[in-house]
Amino acid sequence: MFLSEQSAAEQRIIDYFKKLNLPIDSVQWNWIPFSGQWGISTSFFQAAALEARQKGTGGNVGQRANEMAAEVAKEMFESDGSLLIGFEKVEAVKAYLNLYFSTSSYANRVVDTVLAEKEQFGRSPRNHQRVMVEFSQPNTHKAFHVGHLRNVILGNSVCNILDSAGYDVIRANYIGDIGLHVIKWLWNYLTYHKGEEPGEDRYRWMTDLYTEADRRYNDDPEAEPQVRALFARWDARDPELVKLWEQTRQWSLEGFDQIYKTLGVPFDHYYYESEVEESGKVYVEEMIKKGIARDERPDGAVIVPLDELAGTKEKYRVLVILRSDGTSLYSTKDLPLAVKKFEMFHLDKSVYVIDVRQSLYMQQIYKTLELMGYDFAKKCYHLAYEIVNLPGNVTMSSRDGTVVLLEDLINEATSRALQIVKEKNPDLSPKDQETVARMVALGGIKYSMLSRDNTKIVTFDWETALTFEGQAAPYIQYAFVRANSILRKAGQQIPAEGKGDFELSPQEVQLIDLISRFSNEVTRAAAEYKPMMVANYAFSLAQAFNDFYNVCPVLTAETPVRDFRLRLTAAARQAISNSLSLLGIDCPEVM
Ligand code: ARG
Repeated sequence: MFLSEQSAAEQRIIDYFKKLNLPIDSVQWNWIPFSGQWGISTSFFQAAALEARQKGTGGNVGQRANEMAAEVAKEMFESDGSLLIGFEKVEAVKAYLNLYFSTSSYANRVVDTVLAEKEQFGRSPRNHQRVMVEFSQPNTHKAFHVGHLRNVILGNSVCNILDSAGYDVIRANYIGDIGLHVIKWLWNYLTYHKGEEPGEDRYRWMTDLYTEADRRYNDDPEAEPQVRALFARWDARDPELVKLWEQTRQWSLEGFDQIYKTLGVPFDHYYYESEVEESGKVYVEEMIKKGIARDERPDGAVIVPLDELAGTKEKYRVLVILRSDGTSLYSTKDLPLAVKKFEMFHLDKSVYVIDVRQSLYMQQIYKTLELMGYDFAKKCYHLAYEIVNLPGNVTMSSRDGTVVLLEDLINEATSRALQIVKEKNPDLSPKDQETVARMVALGGIKYSMLSRDNTKIVTFDWETALTFEGQAAPYIQYAFVRANSILRKAGQQIPAEGKGDFELSPQEVQLIDLISRFSNEVTRAAAEYKPMMVANYAFSLAQAFNDFYNVCPVLTAETPVRDFRLRLTAAARQAISNSLSLLGIDCPEVM
């Protein structure tokens, strides 16, 4: 907000540094906590310290910084004695320069900006940095269960936030369509279900068969050699097997598409493990030649002795990159995948959204890339997240069949939300009730995954996820609905004019203040890949709107106040919706 005013002030400071021969070309601004006036400030300690170092005189840095602040304060005036446009007051206090905006013009500018920019409000200018975010990465032939949910929701939100903060974002998926799990599935099918076709719910059938395959594989001592033999047939690309693989893989992929549609999550590019499996093996050979990998076959596997090569101790340990029987592993494929990403898209950053339990593994991959001489290794970043615990301590492994399919969770959330919506708004048509319930249900699930730091475990429970009283999506969505209902009662006519030139109440100030910080919050969240910051922000905004709603009459106020408050209500509605949309959450019109 107020970037042009800020950069005009900044330019004068930089010019001042130039006169002193100080090579400083940017200024660090901070917001001054609101106390009747909005303002920004910057300190001169660093400049004074730099000057002392340049001159080699030492001297009193603090005192010099004071002087600088006082001198710069004078630079903020025009030749006719007026203050730089947009500002109302300037002061130099203890080495700090404080610049204050005029309160009413600030308030009006915030509201005007939101209403003019609408969905674009909060978005930063493009920074021409290209980031790929790889997320979701489900495995075909297996269930897409609640355990995968946090990944998709987090990845999607990180993409939205980066995009809003100015990055050019590529949303990538990386589907595990080959590997031991797939071969196991095919083995079970060929041995016990040959020729069977799934019914209507193909996807569920696929996942049920996976549970069965896994159980048999673990219980039956005959299974392992048979599966291994089948893997060899795959490696030889046996046409019959490839055909079966293609068909069954497709059923899973269709199931995933459906899930992404339900969740409202788009992708720009899909990678598949099958497309990097063979090139992975070529890399392995190269690495053996280069002396990076050690071939211990047939007794052992092909390994990269990372600690030995990096001169570290129990930090990177040893990475296995090919099984002793020559079949591929995750690691075999991750190396060519990384290269492919950078070659295809010339990335400035490559983010991997992956479970925290794979942290060592990801560091091993990045280190291996570095040892192979790829400069881009340092542009790779593992965005780790913790697991989700479900009510009743249901674990989520596809092994024991206790997985909760995503579909089931969403259905349950929707029916619970429907109960609440029916109570709250019995006059709504059943169709609208259903639509609203779905938005509330999905919002509730998404918000509970995003409002917690990604490195902390989420313990999911219905009460918390679907509450209208505390920090949860329904509470925030409800604030949107309230704002909307005021505007509806005013005939959805947002007055074109309406200046906040009267004495603003603390609730108005608080709300305006928060709205004006939106873009800043998004930038911060993008820098740290933390949607939680936006989740917290959206909640504060909803709280601030509710405080305003409870204290400041809108529709019954007199004209200039009424018009301003209607505009502020519309601005708040927009800001709430924009912040929730970064979390992938929709707002219902009514509730
Ligand atoms: N599909 C894998 C799994 O489910 C995760 C892949 C993560 N991405 C990667 N580049 N290794 O465990």
